[in-house]
Amino acid sequence: MHSPETAPQSVVDTVITNGTLVTETAMFAGDIAIHEGRIVAISSPGFAPPAARVIDATGRMVLPGCIDVHVHFRVPGMGHKEDWQTGSQAAAVGGVTTVFDMPNTSPATATPEDLAAKAALAEAASIVDFGLYGLLGEQNLDQIDALAAAGVIGFKLFLGNTTGDLPCPSDGAVLEGFEILAELGLRCSIHAENSPILFWRQKALQAAGRTDAMAHLAARTDIVAVEALNRAATLAEWTGARIHIVHESCARSLPHIRWWKSRGVDLTVETLPQYLYLSAEESLLPGGHVLRMNPPIREAAHQAPIWAGLTDGSIDMIATDHAPHSIAEKQADRLAPDSIWNVACGFPGVETSLPLMLTAVNDGRLGLPDVVRLMAGAPARAFGLSHCKGSLTLGADADIVLVDMKARAILRADKLHSRGKVSAYEGREVTGLPVLTMLRGMVVAQDGAPVGVPGTGRHLRPIMPSPAPRNCDTTLRAVTATDRPAFGDPFWLQQHFATTRTGFHRPATP
Ligand code: NCD
Ligand code: ZN
Repeated sequence: MHSPETAPQSVVDTVITNGTLVTETAMFAGDIAIHEGRIVAISSPGFAPPAARVIDATGRMVLPGCIDVHVHFRVPGMGHKEDWQTGSQAAAVGGVTTVFDMPNTSPATATPEDLAAKAALAEAASIVDFGLYGLLGEQNLDQIDALAAAGVIGFKLFLGNTTGDLPCPSDGAVLEGFEILAELGLRCSIHAENSPILFWRQKALQAAGRTDAMAHLAARTDIVAVEALNRAATLAEWTGARIHIVHESCARSLPHIRWWKSRGVDLTVETLPQYLYLSAEESLLPGGHVLRMNPPIREAAHQAPIWAGLTDGSIDMIATDHAPHSIAEKQADRLAPDSIWNVACGFPGVETSLPLMLTAVNDGRLGLPDVVRLMAGAPARAFGLSHCKGSLTLGADADIVLVDMKARAILRADKLHSRGKVSAYEGREVTGLPVLTMLRGMVVAQDGAPVGVPGTGRHLRPIMPSPAPRNCDTTLRAVTATDRPAFGDPFWLQQHFATTRTGFHRPATP
């Protein structure tokens, strides 16, 4: 027995003290103790255990690190646009501690070998944790199970054409892909634009001589998004596949989203700061062509409904679609492009998303707990990371961002840590900045500078709820299985009619 005077005091690695902790539901004064990379205590101010290192967060908001489920870090194949060192540095400076990288690299992430090669690049260079998407394509349906076993965070389906020109799978292939994914329980992120319609219109616009910025929007007009969303949700409902609509830009999609959710489809939706803040009208201003992206930034009238969607439950999360290109590819060195069709689609975003959303809080559009839900909690829940990411909870990874809600900055392309020195927000003022970013207890960015050691980031694997496949008796696997019961035998009839609702002529149990 130790006397009280001699009892050994536990000493944790780090305590963050005197800050205001922000969760999805509350803000309160508190201290956080961190040991071996995890949160081990949350206490009233001054009640945390003794620590080897104390970080004074007086005047700071303390948030869980942001999770960005949609970035393009470009390697392998397009390292002149971005790589894991520059991309993850941009993320860390922006308060983002976990990113999910898209598979439209070169080669695309279509096999376990592709995945392993990309994971090696990320593991060697990243200063934030990461998930990697596998491609759901027509040519690699036989790789889906192996990609899942190899640890993809989810799959990505390009229904609409975009950077990388990955072909849109046929509806038959999408249905088969969803059947497979439904049994695995992994989520499929979907670029929901209708490729045949957008190509048809783009060709006609080009033939008519349209080269202005609005022609891009005209090719990808609202129905291009609304149709693809509804087709994807129809197949998801039938199969029980979990889906996520990336970069929702269209106010007209919102009632459809609410309807599919009300039907019980496991559908999550992200929007991006650029759809909240920027408009197609601005793309007509000098230099406005850099706003070209897919789906297009739409007319300003779309903004208010999308803002409303962030708090009414139709939109679940904020991502960035961080999509850097070189200055030449964006034709960002000129005031007007030779033709909008020659301007690369997309621009960087991972470093500016949290400042833009904190600005929205300062403007009274959202509460800080909303930002925590939209940028940390909801992405973790949707993609099976709640056991370690997305919240300030005991046992969770100590992925933490300290925010100064009063700090101001003018956004400038040449200050971005991304390799893509093009900003859609050039000259815009933001109020509210991340001032310290911690990944599993390690400081990876401070006062606008990355300080993490390349190679710190870890490859994350999801833990999803149990799969909930539907209409299993009609899947291609079921109807082509070699060991399926012979057509017409009593067992086949029983199986078949027991699982269809119109089961008349149901045979008696043998
Ligand atoms: C993205 C890119 O460049 O990879 N571009 C874009 O315009 N959004 C691809 C994508 O997410 O569609
Ligand atoms: Zn996309």
